[in-house]
Amino acid sequence: MKNNWRQKLHLEPVSGWLNDPNGLCFFGGYYHVYFQYAPESPYGKGGKCWGHWQSPDLLNWTFTGTVLRPDIPEDRNGVYSGCAFPDGGILRLFYTGNVKEEGDHDYTTSGRGANVITVSTSNGHAMSEKKVLLRNSDYPSYCSCHVRDPKVWKDANIYRMVLGARTLSDEGCVLFYTSPDLENWSFEKRVSIQDFGYMWECPDLFRIDGREYLSISPQGIPHEEYRFQNVYSSGYFSAEKELADYQEWDFGFDFYAPQTFEVPDGRRIIIGWMGIGDIPYTNPTAELGWQHCLTVPREITAAADGSLRQAPVRELEKLRRGSSELTDGMTVELPFELSAESYGDFSIELGDYLIFEYADGVFTMRFTDDKAGCGRDIRKVRLSSCKDIRLLADTSSVEVYLSGGERVMSSRFYPADTSAKLSFRGLSGTIYELDEMEVKSDGK
Ligand code: FRU
Repeated sequence: MKNNWRQKLHLEPVSGWLNDPNGLCFFGGYYHVYFQYAPESPYGKGGKCWGHWQSPDLLNWTFTGTVLRPDIPEDRNGVYSGCAFPDGGILRLFYTGNVKEEGDHDYTTSGRGANVITVSTSNGHAMSEKKVLLRNSDYPSYCSCHVRDPKVWKDANIYRMVLGARTLSDEGCVLFYTSPDLENWSFEKRVSIQDFGYMWECPDLFRIDGREYLSISPQGIPHEEYRFQNVYSSGYFSAEKELADYQEWDFGFDFYAPQTFEVPDGRRIIIGWMGIGDIPYTNPTAELGWQHCLTVPREITAAADGSLRQAPVRELEKLRRGSSELTDGMTVELPFELSAESYGDFSIELGDYLIFEYADGVFTMRFTDDKAGCGRDIRKVRLSSCKDIRLLADTSSVEVYLSGGERVMSSRFYPADTSAKLSFRGLSGTIYELDEMEVKSDGK
């Protein structure tokens, strides 16, 4: 069948542009996913807004519309990224109000306002009046104008917030604030490490099994063959005492600015933007009126050594319809899931455009047809052994989970057809046909 690239398992706007997931939470019986949204432009032009989806089960979603727009002086050039904090019967949202002054500015050392603003809602979409909590003059004097993306949590009797920042000497860092009441915030400390990029975006501090982690999306890290292959990175540190052991969340072409949240049964879930800014490749849906999607929600767990594992949320298994044994040369129809064990080295060829290969301790994803890759070529990751692979292939994206989710690769791809031949060696497993998620719309 001809492929119209409309995703079936991934949240994406019907029209316009999406970037970071924002305000992820479970509140009032629903999962809430807000996102950076430019409703009028598939290229992300115009002031950023927050769009909003909600779901009772992570499978049936409703888009309630554009719920936050730039409409006060302190956010007039964009309602930028932020978080949600459920506070009893009220959901408190915190975001960055972006301001660009007129005049001759570089917008890094002058001309940009970055305000922490809060609003609240009792139903997820009708918002209270906005209140400005912090302005640039409240940040330490070593900061440039780039300070943004608040993430708030509660520790015993104190509220905490992290903000991503760029210093005047071009070092990425995270600023920590504390508050007794979610309104009055005091600077506590700055956290950074040497030579790790000029800006850290979208910080997120969380705990799993009692261990502390700090996720960041750093910009300005030199590229390497097996790491930092994309224009910007995104990963987590162990944050027990000092920041240590940075691990990238995802080694594919399209992943950035993820956020985590905890759900009532105790699972920690991460959702990323399946896209990155300033990429040298393209997404042809933009010519059709929309661009970008989010990753599926992923459960994060910690291995014995503290490193994290990711797996698609178990709810997605309810979308499995038929299943068949993986057989060489079979025809598959997007979307599908492949789940297989390996006997050492292996390879999978999807259609005549994509090859996945594990050999000599390196997993590789390689496009063999640029019409499907649209400028994407090759991504690699080291993995000393790879005992299994799970591949979630949607109509225009693929998420690959390797060896129990120890490494992940996500990428957009744009095949002309939804059916494809699948060839492989070194694996045995199952192919699942998948139903699509339901995404209704009752807002604009
Ligand atoms: C990350 C980011 C954030 C910012 C938002 C603006 O992709 O640059 O730092 O708040 O996007 O859309």
